[in-house]
Amino acid sequence: MKIGQSYEGTIKRQIYSAEEIAAAIERLAGRIAADFTGQPLLLLGVLKGALYVVTDLARAIALVPDGPSEIVVDYLCVSSYGNATRTSGEVRLLKDTTATVTGKNVVIVEDIVDNGLTLEYLSALLAERGPARLASCVLFDKPYHRRVDVALNYVGLRCPDEFVVGYGLDYQELFRNLPYLAQLQPWVFRVE
Ligand code: PRP
Repeated sequence: MKIGQSYEGTIKRQIYSAEEIAAAIERLAGRIAADFTGQPLLLLGVLKGALYVVTDLARAIALVPDGPSEIVVDYLCVSSYGNATRTSGEVRLLKDTTATVTGKNVVIVEDIVDNGLTLEYLSALLAERGPARLASCVLFDKPYHRRVDVALNYVGLRCPDEFVVGYGLDYQELFRNLPYLAQLQPWVFRVE
């Protein structure tokens, strides 16, 4: 895949192509749709990283026969303090859900789980509100540096133990709109 001028020369290697990501999302959609057949479903995307995965997942679930009876998409926004390439584990809730969680079938949708603290924080926060069911879906599982043992119900792809960008994942707010998952050239990190 060619790249536009904005990211020219920045990509060291592609890890998962846009097609591989789309196939993974279709697999996730099939599994989620089957588990919530005939029931209403609330998909909660965790911004900003999950902005693409939750929208693509919601549309893919809508195409699965015998899936949920209805699908509502809503968002939370969290941020973790830390340096540029690792999260610190201090989670801040920047935006809460608009939808009510109590009594609903909820799937938290994350782009990546790394140390696990963000998902642990959100799972505890939402569990307190009494959902009917609470599950988690992560597109890229990065299991090498877990600090907590979080339950992942739906996992898309294994992420290598590297700093990755694209398909929602950023470096200093850039690269989220890259359609594939990639590793950056080292020079990108040296530019102030
Ligand atoms: C990223 C990602 C997850 C979290 C996972 O978000 O989107 O929410 O880190 O990391 P953890 O498992 O180590 O807690 P980030 O805080 O970078 O914010 P962003 O989604 O706005 O990029």
